[in-house]
Amino acid sequence: MIAFVVGTRPELIKIAPVVKALERRGAPLSIVHTGQHYSYELDAIFFEELGLPRPFANLEVGSSGPAQQLGTIIIRSAEVLAKLQPRWVLVQGDTNSVLGGALAAYKLGMPVAHLEAGLRSDDWDMPEEANRVLAGRVAALHLCPTEGQVERLRRENIVRGVHVVGNTVVDAALMNADRARERSQVIERLGLAGKRYALVTLHRPSNVDSEERLTAVLRALGAVGRHHGLLLVFPTHPRTRATIARMAEGRRFSEPPFITTDPVGYLDFLRLAADAQLTLTDSGGVQEEACTLHVPCVTLRANTERPETVDVGANMLCDSTAPGVLEAAVETMLARPRTWKNPFGDGRAGERVADLLLDPNTRRVPSGAP
Ligand code: UD1
Ligand code: UDP
Repeated sequence: MIAFVVGTRPELIKIAPVVKALERRGAPLSIVHTGQHYSYELDAIFFEELGLPRPFANLEVGSSGPAQQLGTIIIRSAEVLAKLQPRWVLVQGDTNSVLGGALAAYKLGMPVAHLEAGLRSDDWDMPEEANRVLAGRVAALHLCPTEGQVERLRRENIVRGVHVVGNTVVDAALMNADRARERSQVIERLGLAGKRYALVTLHRPSNVDSEERLTAVLRALGAVGRHHGLLLVFPTHPRTRATIARMAEGRRFSEPPFITTDPVGYLDFLRLAADAQLTLTDSGGVQEEACTLHVPCVTLRANTERPETVDVGANMLCDSTAPGVLEAAVETMLARPRTWKNPFGDGRAGERVADLLLDPNTRRVPSGAP
């Protein structure tokens, strides 16, 4: 049996293709949900839309300080994994749920498969950088989106159990593109038919936890919207919403050019992403999706752990909120021909991962072990 320890929105989206591939092979699996995300629009809607099986357990860790959250994930996931005795424990990405699930499995002597292995931003102010590096240290199977991550892992002396499989974000987008076009009413609901808009998401602590920084970022975005005649469709993460609620000019950012909504489900997001002129984001998964959908992206950060998106010309970094700087970056990206080759694979990553997990010859001890 294969156990998935997952806890947040992007993990649910990115494990779905692996879950489906295992189901097609008749392989038993269990989802252990940490409960890091629990609001309907960050959690249950993805189970419904992606047809994921009900979790075997929900650990209900909820929101708390990062150390307490991580500790609770380790303790509670260890209890459930000890009952399940899986052949593999798969974690995806770089959240606290990933590190907690990986450490619990490792301490129980269970082999860890890390999906989306080897990404590095080299920015240790990001909680995700520690999570991904430390999860990688205890993993036996490193499932990399591209060759770039193989090289990053090699520099850390992780060479065994490393495979390039592509990114399951592509599988998920391809599997759901038609359904999104048929079923999502989001363009109509938000009054966007025939309108030019950019899709905006923000949730990185470095951008959204300080009122001063978030005000500066949103002012800069507003200026871009006015300068380029773009509406700014802004499904707002709860972390970001909480800071906006405290900000003196918070209400301004739900007025045009901003079209502010609660977070939307995956089908609505895919439809919004596909029809946008541009994506403005600090999300990891959204950078990859924009690249996959051939929509140009400006990443509102100083670094990215997805450098392939920049290398192929799909993405540009812009951390500055100084007048005119973001407008210029947007101008450059709007003019880019949308002809880049998607670096994240052919949409069959889930199949490759399922095959590796079910192959009796796949090595199941941590890569550092003799
Ligand atoms: C987490 C991950 C981040 C990932 C993101 C995906 C870590 C350290 N961070 O960030 O890597 O990119 O998920 O979206 O693991 N909240 C709700 N409802 C929920 C969950 C959270 O309202 O269902 C609110 C709470 O006030 C909470 C805040 O959002 O304090 C932040 O949630 P948390 O899970 O700690 O981090 P994210 O910012 O979501
Ligand atoms: N997403 C969504 N609804 C939204 C915003 C994002 O379904 O309102 C999806 C999006 O399709 C992408 C994923 O969430 O696949 C990205 O997750 P997020 O930005 O929360 O986290 P990150 O990828 O930065 O870890």
